[in-house]
Amino acid sequence: ALLPSMYIRDSADHVGEAVKLAGWVYNKTEKGKLVFIQLRDGTATIQCVVFKKNVSEEVFARAKELTQESSCYIHGTLRADERSSLGFELDVTDIEIVHLTQNYPITPKEHGTQFLMEHRHLWVRSAKQHALLRIRAQVIAAAQEYLNSEHFVRYDSPILTATAAEGTSDLFATEYFDLGNAYLAQTGQLYVESGMATFGRVYCFGPTFRAEKSKTRRHLTEFWMIEPEFAFADQDDNMELQENFVSYIVQRVLDRCEDDLKILERDTSKLENIVPPFPRISYDEAIEKIKEGVAAGATVAPDNAPLAPLEWGDDFGAPHETYLASLFDKPLFIYNYPTKVKAFYMQPAEGRPEVVRCADLIAPEGYGEIIGGSQRIHDAELLEARIREHGLDVADYQWYLDLRRYGSVPHSGFGMGIERCVAWLAGTRHIREAIPFPRQLYRIYP
Ligand code: 4AD
Ligand code: MG
Repeated sequence: ALLPSMYIRDSADHVGEAVKLAGWVYNKTEKGKLVFIQLRDGTATIQCVVFKKNVSEEVFARAKELTQESSCYIHGTLRADERSSLGFELDVTDIEIVHLTQNYPITPKEHGTQFLMEHRHLWVRSAKQHALLRIRAQVIAAAQEYLNSEHFVRYDSPILTATAAEGTSDLFATEYFDLGNAYLAQTGQLYVESGMATFGRVYCFGPTFRAEKSKTRRHLTEFWMIEPEFAFADQDDNMELQENFVSYIVQRVLDRCEDDLKILERDTSKLENIVPPFPRISYDEAIEKIKEGVAAGATVAPDNAPLAPLEWGDDFGAPHETYLASLFDKPLFIYNYPTKVKAFYMQPAEGRPEVVRCADLIAPEGYGEIIGGSQRIHDAELLEARIREHGLDVADYQWYLDLRRYGSVPHSGFGMGIERCVAWLAGTRHIREAIPFPRQLYRIYP
């Protein structure tokens, strides 16, 4: 067996024991008769102290030979040490080198973003990236935990699809044998609506694709989305589920990622108050607030550009969202957007067909929209009319219309972008670091 005798994160259970660790050299410093090795095994990093008089000459020579990112086993005795951030150190007795690394390209010195992105496959080993990706894993785990505990059944949706769900302008197409074009899914929503009528409460989770031509710090062409859908639920039920869902995720991350948030120097006081209820304003009110802001000469972080004027009917730009969110200290729901800026499947507001019962959830601190959701049209005729209005082929949507022909119910759902959520919680400005291998307009390598 090649496994170590324990993982570094479990140090507290093994104090005073002789252990065998396995990992990679994160850093190394030498001081006369002492060599300090920072060993990373993925669960944590520990300082291993090699004292010349405690080891054989060969072992001390091996310690000196070790380079950054060399892989090795280190044997020793675990000792509690208050000065170490982990709380433990290892007094080394033996070292086995597995692979000696030469010229590791990512050194502790500063590197530019371009260089780091080209070396993403190695960059992920560094402390900050580690912390970010650990938070990502916890966001995903917490999101599923919450939904599972609320009786939502995971119901996976296809990635290769025949039709568009979120507009036709940013579809990735690929040839599909004799059947013409297939498109990479922009959302799993239409399919989870079938699950909604099957299980009542479902969610899908997987990668989604948008051929976004925009080169912003909030957009990826491939991103992961978790999409709950539930029956007998209206817009209010939907927003309530979202605020509970998001609050659960935030509190779990605070709970389980304390060390990672520290490494990222995240101001966690801003996350601690993320508990229900979240503020809610209508699109109409949001437009009013923007008009007031423009009149008062408001500017928007990070570059303090003046807030651009907006008329009723326009969609918000990122600076408008940032401005509106800055008026609150929790995520902000903006609901009932103009029908013409939203997708075809959204339920019109009663007595006001010019707006639909949808809501976007805007994260605080300028991280933008993390959730888009809506109540869905449950009337077959109305839905068919909307499909036609959007210039889509009704024949392609017969299966979707069937869901309104057999046991139709008011139902709602939403999609949360994992990377947007991670970027917010981790406090990282750019979404590209919230996924191991970001796909962007100008990036497909590595
Ligand atoms: O608002 P969107 O487009 O909503 C939907 O796709 C719905 N069908 C979801 C549903 O109701 N089941 O996207 C949902 C979320 C956004 O709020 C954002 O967090 C994320 O997906 N998102 C992106 N994340 C990264 N890069 C992109 N290009 C994104 N586009 C959307
Ligand atoms: Mg949206």
